[in-house]
Amino acid sequence: MQQAFAYAWSVACAVEASTVLVPASNVFLVGPITFTGDSCEPNVVFQVDGTILANTGSTAWRSGYVTPWLEFKSVRGLTIQGCGAIDGQGSHWWSRTSVVDHDQSTELDPDRAGTSDRPTALRVYQGANVTVTGITIRNSPKFHLTFDTCRAVEVHDVTIASPGDSPNTDGIHLAGSVGVSIQHTTIGCGDDCVSIQDGCSDVVIREVHCGPGHGISIGGLGKGGAMAVVSDVTVQDVTLNQTMTGVRIKTWQGGSGSVKNVRFSNVRLSAVKTAIVIDQYYCDHTTCTNQTSAVVVAGVVYQGVAGTYTERPVYLACSDAAPCMGIHLADIQLAPVNDSGYHLQGPFCWKAHGDEVRPVEPPVDCLTAGAP
Ligand SMILES: *[C@@H]1O[C@H](CO)[C@@H](O)[C@H](O)[C@H]1NC(C)=O
Ligand SMILES: *[C@@H]1O[C@H](CO)[C@@H](O)[C@H](O)[C@H]1NC(C)=O
Ligand SMILES: *[C@@H]1O[C@H](CO)[C@@H](O)[C@H](O)[C@H]1NC(C)=O
Ligand SMILES: *[C@@H]1O[C@H](CO)[C@@H](O)[C@H](O)[C@H]1NC(C)=O
Repeated sequence: MQQAFAYAWSVACAVEASTVLVPASNVFLVGPITFTGDSCEPNVVFQVDGTILANTGSTAWRSGYVTPWLEFKSVRGLTIQGCGAIDGQGSHWWSRTSVVDHDQSTELDPDRAGTSDRPTALRVYQGANVTVTGITIRNSPKFHLTFDTCRAVEVHDVTIASPGDSPNTDGIHLAGSVGVSIQHTTIGCGDDCVSIQDGCSDVVIREVHCGPGHGISIGGLGKGGAMAVVSDVTVQDVTLNQTMTGVRIKTWQGGSGSVKNVRFSNVRLSAVKTAIVIDQYYCDHTTCTNQTSAVVVAGVVYQGVAGTYTERPVYLACSDAAPCMGIHLADIQLAPVNDSGYHLQGPFCWKAHGDEVRPVEPPVDCLTAGAP
């Protein structure tokens, strides 16, 4: 089936604004394939009305070789649309995941350990003017939809669905991408609903519904001393239902760079474990030692965050080396999911500087006013 897809792509992409049609009521079993745009005309439409199913046969995959399942590389003006589905048949891979993935001894999500031999379902690499709309992506072996090194990306009216316990199955994973809009999209998965990594800026996330999952996250940034820069991220009019965290920024110790100008507004939470998180001590194992540098976190606005949590409303663990600056909390109304008191903890801050505009419920008295 790969040959049929590869052939259709090569013919379509020779003509500007042509369409590759995956027809409705058909199921196509497909192994890993890269659609390359280097010598293509722009504005190809990839119309998915039927179902594309991942081939789980061992001969379809080169062992020990990391490859996405469906990849679009160096394509300009791509639209992936339709009412069909991309189904990664992830349970085939999840059950073989190494034990490292199941080591959830800390409250933090495990890092990407054990992911190297599992493919991302749909990856767009070095794309410009890319739109993904209408389709459903489900049960990815690893991340569902990744944009790496892209410019001008729009995702809207997409559904992403996999079980809450599927390992490292980020909904939408962004790396090195500038000018990204994700709107009106429903995501349930086993890791971050949206994950924003190094090199991303001008990212807008609106009307995204997340759950199950680990929440909407920036990072983890700065692993292994890496430099990481993320800026100008807006997360607005989102709901999170029964997720591990609500809105989160996570960085490793020892990194450099910065996370700047981030705004979370009108965030509605329902039974989220920890609602607001900044964690500059992110660590996937128990042997992370304290370092003297960090990715700087500065200018983070929380405006209108309301709903219920099961464990903690606010957790701001900032770096000794680079305390958080310009944390602004306004109109925060968080309540425990019930009054049992079981496992409930109050707001926590460490080296967190900023201000509050009432109402902030519960009050985050541990926030330090002014600059560090
Ligand atoms: C992306 O779209 C914009 C506006 O339609 C256009 O000006 C620009 O040239 C496009 N970029 C690429 C790389 O196709
Ligand atoms: C939250 O999720 C639960 C179960 O996953 C579901 O029953 C409930 O309707 C959802 N609540 C909202 C507000 O979407
Ligand atoms: C690292 O720093 C934090 C904050 O100062 C402190 O609570 C923790 O004990 C330190 N850990 C180690 C291993 O020194
Ligand atoms: C609500 O309270 C009961 C005890 O009254 C407790 O067993 C239960 O776990 C609580 N629910 C949640 C979601 O924390």
